Amino acid sequence: MSKEILALLEEKRERTRMGGGKARIEKQHAKGKLSARERIELLLDEGSFEEWDMFVEHRCSDFGMEEQRVPGDGVVTGWGTIEGRAVYVFSKDFTVFGGSLSKAHAEKIVKVQQAAARNGAPVIGLFDAGGARIQEGVDSLAGYADIFMENVLASGVVPQISVIMGPCAGGDVYSPAMTDFIFMVRDTSYMYVTGPDVVKTVTNEEVTHEELGGARVHAVKSGVVEGAFDNDIEALTQIRRLITFLPQSYAEKPPVIPSFDSIDRTDRSLDTLVPANPNMPYDMKELVEKVCDEGDYFEISPDFGGNIICAFGRIDGSTVGFVANQPMTLAGVLDIDASRKAARFVRFCDCFNIPIVTFVDVPGFMPGTKQEYGGLIKHGAKLLFAYAEATVPKVTVITRKAYGGAYDVMSSKHLRGDVNYAWPNAEIAVMGAKGAAEIIYRADRDKPEKMAEHTKYYEERFANPFVAASKGYIDDIIKPHNTRFRIARSLRQLKNKDVKNPPKKHDNIPL
Ligand code: HXC
Repeated sequence: MSKEILALLEEKRERTRMGGGKARIEKQHAKGKLSARERIELLLDEGSFEEWDMFVEHRCSDFGMEEQRVPGDGVVTGWGTIEGRAVYVFSKDFTVFGGSLSKAHAEKIVKVQQAAARNGAPVIGLFDAGGARIQEGVDSLAGYADIFMENVLASGVVPQISVIMGPCAGGDVYSPAMTDFIFMVRDTSYMYVTGPDVVKTVTNEEVTHEELGGARVHAVKSGVVEGAFDNDIEALTQIRRLITFLPQSYAEKPPVIPSFDSIDRTDRSLDTLVPANPNMPYDMKELVEKVCDEGDYFEISPDFGGNIICAFGRIDGSTVGFVANQPMTLAGVLDIDASRKAARFVRFCDCFNIPIVTFVDVPGFMPGTKQEYGGLIKHGAKLLFAYAEATVPKVTVITRKAYGGAYDVMSSKHLRGDVNYAWPNAEIAVMGAKGAAEIIYRADRDKPEKMAEHTKYYEERFANPFVAASKGYIDDIIKPHNTRFRIARSLRQLKNKDVKNPPKKHDNIPL
């Protein structure tokens, strides 16, 4: 082969790598954003990226588009590795037609989505785009639908992750919405179905991009995204970290990363984690941190539904999903946000063979009109349903309160919890002793001494784990300092668990 041909190829590649040109890349940098290719470089192991379809161009000839063709057409696609394991990527190039989506652009994305599903590896999308390519009309809408279809077919087959790193509007929001996790970058990204101009026209409401769909909205208020980071570099580094916790597909067990943290490590400080006063809060994250390998865990939606903690960690080298009530926020009550957040996390774990470790300290479901009008019944049922249908190993530890319906929901024995432990101070009851006494002994309501007596009796009868243990609902009462060891041994015991739900087309979770 002549040197000239090879040089020509390199020259063409080099030109393509410049996307929309130096000026537009500089504009991108000036906004605090990296370019599409710089992002991929940071996301993947060094030198591992193989780009596909870099010479693809759009086929539109309306509005003078035949004069404007840029190889790659606004999206960089291909595959590479993270910590040596394959992942498929697409990264929207805002410097080319604002990253907007043409039919050819969509075909490139569909190609990596299909390869990911076929070859059993995660797919990661980096978004920074202006939505449908306006010049292409219905072809662009068709392209979006093709991507949505692949999202749905790949759901539960391979992990799908979206990172919003710039504008993301119109058609661009629904593909991320169907992936397993969405993350945003603070101040440089926003996400909405319709932008501020349309909002103003339709509702007369004046709102900024940030107020309508910034990271603070979606990571804190709407719960649409599972986390927000300060800049592109932090976001991409954290996605690399998240990937290390996940299996490549539903057909694999989670990866094992050997650690120096022995499973029989005890932690005496856990014996005093729960305060003597049952109404005093404590930080459940301390338990998660002290139980998992080397205290290393990745929290999902840390700023939304703070009354429940969802996190990936490792025990005995292998990934587990922690779900834990957080007494520090709203006393760890289950409300709409917490139920939705945890239900989706439990389902993700079940899809991808990740055992679930549940820490329970829950006073019940949140009462009140706000919750009832918002549909707490349906949302709470999501979590109940998710736990009940999950067939992965489920280990539960009740650290303090397990009251009412929330006791049932939080991975109880009755929902096929495999191993259910309680700490010695656990209170398993229909409700708190005071409230219970006031209902049962209504006639004595105005007699404080009598009420104190009734409350004490109820406490003695139910505010302990022994009644539940005597019925076999709790498998053992364990010492807090031994919690890591007991969970780790249980997970070893459950390694080959094989449970299948009855044959059906699919279930009908209360959406
Ligand atoms: C074609 C587009 C484009 C689009 C941006 N560009 N969006 N080209 N189709 N949708 C081009 C611009 O013309 C410009 O080209 C370049 O990208 C950069 O855009 P700017 O506007 O200069 O950038 P900025 O000021 O940062 O604003 C970014 C933006 C804005 C907020 C995203 O561009 C914008 O509002 N775009 C339109 C968004 C939109 O309404 N999309 C359609 C949504 S409807 P030059 O050559 O000047 O660099 C939809 C329906 C699908 O998506 C539904 C499927 C279910």
